[in-house]
Amino acid sequence: MHRQLKNLRHVMSPLDLSVEELDHIMELAADMEKNPAKYAHVCDGLKLATLFYEPSTRTRLSFETAMLNMGGNVIGFHSGSTSSATKGESVADTIRVVSCFADICAMRHPKEGAPMVAAAKSSIPVINAGDGGHQHPTQTLADLMTIRQTKGRLDHLTVGICGDLKFGRTVHSLISALVRYPGIRFVLISPEELKLPSYVKEEHLDPHHTEYKEVIRLEDALPDLDILYMTRVQKERFFNEDDYIRMKDFYILNEEKMKLAPKDMYVLHPLPRVNEISVDVDDDPRAAYFKQVYWGMYMRMALMFTLLELEVKE
Ligand code: CP
Repeated sequence: MHRQLKNLRHVMSPLDLSVEELDHIMELAADMEKNPAKYAHVCDGLKLATLFYEPSTRTRLSFETAMLNMGGNVIGFHSGSTSSATKGESVADTIRVVSCFADICAMRHPKEGAPMVAAAKSSIPVINAGDGGHQHPTQTLADLMTIRQTKGRLDHLTVGICGDLKFGRTVHSLISALVRYPGIRFVLISPEELKLPSYVKEEHLDPHHTEYKEVIRLEDALPDLDILYMTRVQKERFFNEDDYIRMKDFYILNEEKMKLAPKDMYVLHPLPRVNEISVDVDDDPRAAYFKQVYWGMYMRMALMFTLLELEVKE
């Protein structure tokens, strides 16, 4: 039997967490990093299920590490092809089964909305670990923490987002989270074919009257940015190989281009990268993309701790 919760909650998008809760999760993650022993047994006897129907390195391994760091265990599958999905089992039935075994679940799925279908039938918390081109809320937790750690704040920032703004679920999640902080401006840098979808503008930018501009050239945007969020062109979401090949190297951030950026402009990327950030940028003190991976694990620890209604025994 799984852990009984007073309030069963799922996280499908960053908007399932209030700004106050996000602040609390960031404080908790910072404390977890500073005092690992304090949290080393809070999940003793609990299990995380990682149900990944789509490939992952960071998200799955950081969820699993997060649970192991809190004393819990992990079950799951890392590809739909090794689960009974191949026999036609629905996501709704799968989560009912997994609810018999685990206390919390992280699900990645190529179809937009699949984790939401699971959440509707689940008796354990479901965390969306990325659904198609839609949302990736725990990547946003990593992004917010990295921005806060590097810039010292989450408000009054000019954030450039560059690359595949059409299919990049991390972009959609990050925008939905950041518009809630005062003084955020976006510079949306993409080729015409990969512009931010209108529904993201209508749902998130317009209601908050968030200032934004759309540009094509990265070089034009760089001098004005506090944060540059680079993204990979999402090969797996293209219908046509030729279009992908035409787009894939549209942006390449390198040492030369970094000279155009302010000394305190940090570069984030959800990773994996392909060619869009040259390895010569990795040693630049403004390269923060591996710090994102580092903080992502602590943020997933803090999120699971919160959803499982855990407490530290002092
Ligand atoms: N950022 C991210 O979601 O990476 P993975 O696909 O490796 O999980």
